[in-house]
Amino acid sequence: MQAFLKGTSGPTSKSQKDKAAAAAGPSTEKRARAVPWVEKYRPKCVDEVAFQEEVVAVLKKSVEGADLPNLLFYGPPGTGKTSTILAAARELYGPELYRQRVLELNASDERGIQVVREKVKNFAQLTVAGSRPDGKPCPPFKIIILDEADSMTAPAQAALRRTMEKESRTTRFCLICNYISRIIEPLTSRCSKFRFKPLASGVQEQRLLQICQKENLKHTAESIAALVQVSEGDLRKAITFLQSAARLNVDREITERAVVEIAGVGSPLPTIDNLLHVCFRGTFEKLEVEVRNLVDEGYAATQILNQMHESIIDQDLSDKQKSVITEKMAVVSKCLSDGADEFLQILSLCSVIMQEASHN
Ligand SMILES: Nc1ncnc2c1ncn2[C@@H]1O[C@H](COP(=O)(O)OP(=O)(O)O)[C@@H](O)[C@H]1O
Ligand SMILES: [Mg+2]
Repeated sequence: MQAFLKGTSGPTSKSQKDKAAAAAGPSTEKRARAVPWVEKYRPKCVDEVAFQEEVVAVLKKSVEGADLPNLLFYGPPGTGKTSTILAAARELYGPELYRQRVLELNASDERGIQVVREKVKNFAQLTVAGSRPDGKPCPPFKIIILDEADSMTAPAQAALRRTMEKESRTTRFCLICNYISRIIEPLTSRCSKFRFKPLASGVQEQRLLQICQKENLKHTAESIAALVQVSEGDLRKAITFLQSAARLNVDREITERAVVEIAGVGSPLPTIDNLLHVCFRGTFEKLEVEVRNLVDEGYAATQILNQMHESIIDQDLSDKQKSVITEKMAVVSKCLSDGADEFLQILSLCSVIMQEASHN
């Protein structure tokens, strides 16, 4: 680039140089920096996927033999589902054919019945050759990846099953979801199912250390352990926290404290103990104040919920009482994920606990 610019001559060369530098400099720099680490360190090939041995073994056989069943990946977030199929597809087709042969739809795309009927079906009906333009063999089918398939409506799923069957000669489907129970039975029975396990701490630690090394981060051993602990088997979460911690601690060591602060895991015991104490002994008015304080202090309701869940199990209540409370927790959890008011939800949970405790 420099050599090229030096070579240009004429009256406009200086201003052009400035313009070119202005255009190329900051934007390329920005682009390099703006890649989230979860994307930057996404496994590039199936072999790089850690901890999911069964899936990797089956996929590797498929890549070698250029044959693939319809797939259904399920399991908790951040365990490598999306990465695995993307890597497998890349290995099957190589970079040039990838665009033609792989259709990727996720929850952010419209996936109602209309789209399944038109987009998916049209793509599935295209026939494909069994070789690449350069003559190398490649599988004679396309792949349709339906990421986060559990957010598809049941009619859309039903529309899919006929397409899946009819186009089985030219198309393979890969459905990805967190909860397999939300996929209708006729679809699950047409796919090979693979469960992705939450990643073991050792595996997560290793990946995080690799990233630290590549990014030249200074860190304490406890900080990595804390990342693994707060992320609960979700490597995406751990990597994202690590990146935020690195941003906030440029040229400084990343400490356990920094991680805990970013993750927003408030000092667990004192706060929740206090709340439970009010549930068991206090009045509704006191409870209201206590919950209001917690929410105002910025604790996330989901986190309060998780910690309450852990402590309720150890409380001196009968099994029946605990089951009533945990059932309410499930309802609250659903409401929270649907965007309900945090204060009201936690308060309603606490009042159920209070009511149950009053039977003692
Ligand atoms: N088994 C794994 N091996 C290696 N990296 C993983 C694994 N699981 C998750 N990751 C990391 O977490 C990020 C998110 O993974 P992803 O495949 O998108 O998870 P999901 O299961 O939610 O689709 C990836 O970019 C990758 O860096
Ligand atoms: Mg995913």
